[in-house]
Amino acid sequence: MSDGGTSRASVFEREGARKTAEGLTYLSGFGNEHSSEAVPGALPEGRNSPQRAPLGLYAEQLSGTAFTEPRAHNRRSWLYRIHPSAAHPAFTRTDNGAIRTAPFTETVPDPNRLRWNPRPEPAPGTDFLAGLWTLGGNGDATQRTGMAVHLYHANSSMDRVFSDADGELLIVPERGGLLLHTEFGLLHVEPAHVALIPRGVRFRVELLDASARGYVCENYGAPFHLPDLGPIGANGLANARDFRAPVAAYEDVEGPVEVVNKFCGNLWTATYDHSPLDVVAWHGNHVPYIYDLRRFNVIGTISYDHPDPSIFTVLTSPSDTPGLAGVDFVVFAPRWLVGEDTFRPPYFHRNVMSEYMGLVEGAYDAKAEGFVPGGGSLHNMMSAHGPDRETFDRASAAELKPQKIDDGLAFMFETRWPVTLTAQAAGAEHLQQRYDDVWQGLERHFRPLQ
Ligand SMILES: [Fe+2]
Repeated sequence: MSDGGTSRASVFEREGARKTAEGLTYLSGFGNEHSSEAVPGALPEGRNSPQRAPLGLYAEQLSGTAFTEPRAHNRRSWLYRIHPSAAHPAFTRTDNGAIRTAPFTETVPDPNRLRWNPRPEPAPGTDFLAGLWTLGGNGDATQRTGMAVHLYHANSSMDRVFSDADGELLIVPERGGLLLHTEFGLLHVEPAHVALIPRGVRFRVELLDASARGYVCENYGAPFHLPDLGPIGANGLANARDFRAPVAAYEDVEGPVEVVNKFCGNLWTATYDHSPLDVVAWHGNHVPYIYDLRRFNVIGTISYDHPDPSIFTVLTSPSDTPGLAGVDFVVFAPRWLVGEDTFRPPYFHRNVMSEYMGLVEGAYDAKAEGFVPGGGSLHNMMSAHGPDRETFDRASAAELKPQKIDDGLAFMFETRWPVTLTAQAAGAEHLQQRYDDVWQGLERHFRPLQ
């Protein structure tokens, strides 16, 4: 990829960052009570808030769930930092850019099947935050329900620091590597990996390539956790040990640092006199993490039909109703198809849940064309969808020998509420105008027996 003079970081700086990224070590396990210290002795022993924290650090608890939520769902971490987070000047409003937040009221919910091409190139000097563009969502951020679908497209590393009080951010890179500098340490993600930044955790995004592009699910609801496995047993789908959290790493920077805070739908900014990424040690389970989607243990039929795509759930955000997710993150990873007397691509269906799909690489087995990496589709509540004509014809006539699907990585944000578009998504030039046509020409085959 050429630099093109558009990236603030030089090629030399990116090479240095990539070396750092590839040398990182991690802590293993989902939802674990991790602990880490960048300096020996920085983590207090046997208590969270000693009279004087070690090494002159300030102790702080960061709560991701209410204090009193059940232990199995409770998320909090203790941070030991150079400056207390409370030491900052007042925040003032700043431009929201292309970021929008629930409730989404700019358009009426649309029952049509919709599909977008990738977004156009951003202007030079666009960082991750400036390059965030909201497609739509549901719920209400102030009620901590629902979700938003964003896409990002950046060509510059962030000098500023960002945190989102409205929800956790599930980042799904489609193009370009990212080095995430978080309060808890460094994370490296590439396409086919995902990263999660918990609610309220400060971070900045450094680009490892000249540009970066991908998707973000902002989850206003309960934090993502691993789905129950039921009769599948104790292993399978996303295995807990493949989730990786950072080890403590801190910035000791005295000097002006811009910190942007997303709060109830608006961006607020303040200039700190130090970097807030100054956590020298921490412990807890409210932590950022990464996951390699290629490690997903795909489970499917070994007889006939194929299970509902919930079998591909990586992470789920539960609601108050058992089994009814606020949002599920679902991945369509490489897998074998072996079903006998089975229409093997995703079947035609109408779903009470609403489905936003994106493509990280390759192709998706229900669509022959038009659904491309960096693009996306929305099939809202009860909208009828499924294979396009070409796929239907091919799959209906295919010889059913074992077949490996290994040329694509698609994903879905599946949510219990319809997704209402932002005005910019409804009116986007990259919104395809003739998506319905993929289901035209499906021939009548009905032949009643006489
Ligand atoms: Fe679907």
